[in-house]
Amino acid sequence: MQKAGPGSLQVISDFDMTLTRFAHKGKRLPTTHNILNNRLLINEDSTKKMKELLNTYYPIEIDPSLSPEEKLPYMVTWWTEVHELLIQQRIRKDMLAQVVRESSAMLREGYRVFFDCLAEHRVPLLIFSAGVGDVLEEVIRQNDVFHPNLHIISNYMDFDHTGVLQAFKGQLIHSYNKRDVALSHATALRELHGRPNVLLLGDSLGDLNMADGVSEAQNILTVGFLNDQVEERKESYINSFDIVLLKDETMDIPNVILRHIV
Ligand code: TMP
Ligand code: MG
Repeated sequence: MQKAGPGSLQVISDFDMTLTRFAHKGKRLPTTHNILNNRLLINEDSTKKMKELLNTYYPIEIDPSLSPEEKLPYMVTWWTEVHELLIQQRIRKDMLAQVVRESSAMLREGYRVFFDCLAEHRVPLLIFSAGVGDVLEEVIRQNDVFHPNLHIISNYMDFDHTGVLQAFKGQLIHSYNKRDVALSHATALRELHGRPNVLLLGDSLGDLNMADGVSEAQNILTVGFLNDQVEERKESYINSFDIVLLKDETMDIPNVILRHIV
């Protein structure tokens, strides 16, 4: 990958808990869905419901004793129920920026070097997220790193003409269908063609499928951020990713790898 240089490279990264921090000063930070769990947008009942869904389904998402196939129906239920709840609450588009500003979400330390370096060397960065696209875009914008080399595949909100959420666009993306989604987007992302070397970043085993749409891939270097339940999941992560980072809240290792290639 180093020999072929930046002209042959593309970076494919998950968003929640991969580009964003999992925790800061001992406190868990929110995912894009959880940023929306704000009283400015939804009522008290829905706030409670969304927390209950998180407490029910997140343990299943990270359970090392279940296979991806076993987890899949639970993930579909989780995402579907949360999206229905958000639609019922008639979320307003013009409130999103404020809700993101008020949230404690943070990009990982060293994020600016990462985003700027890729933009400077015209290396495409595909952010492939089962989170909420409108929210993740706002997080990136508010951190001043929304560069032209960015491509995003995510769950985008569909607002009516008055700016009220009425649906989610396109195929639902959850943490265990990234392979199907990658294949269905493969031809559309022209700027990624002719770049056979991939640096892939994720925090879930489901993220390993994000590069399945890359035709004629030559080298895929995978980096896994293991944030939670480290001891229970270490073995499966080491068996699946090339590099596993344990409770590392920084972009230091991806940045070192990039420095060798660009
Ligand atoms: P990612 O693909 O960008 O990591 O986004 C998916 C993450 O979002 C996944 O790890 C589960 C998490 N999630 C929540 O935190 N709350 C929710 O309500 C839902 C549906 C997902
Ligand atoms: Mg993630």
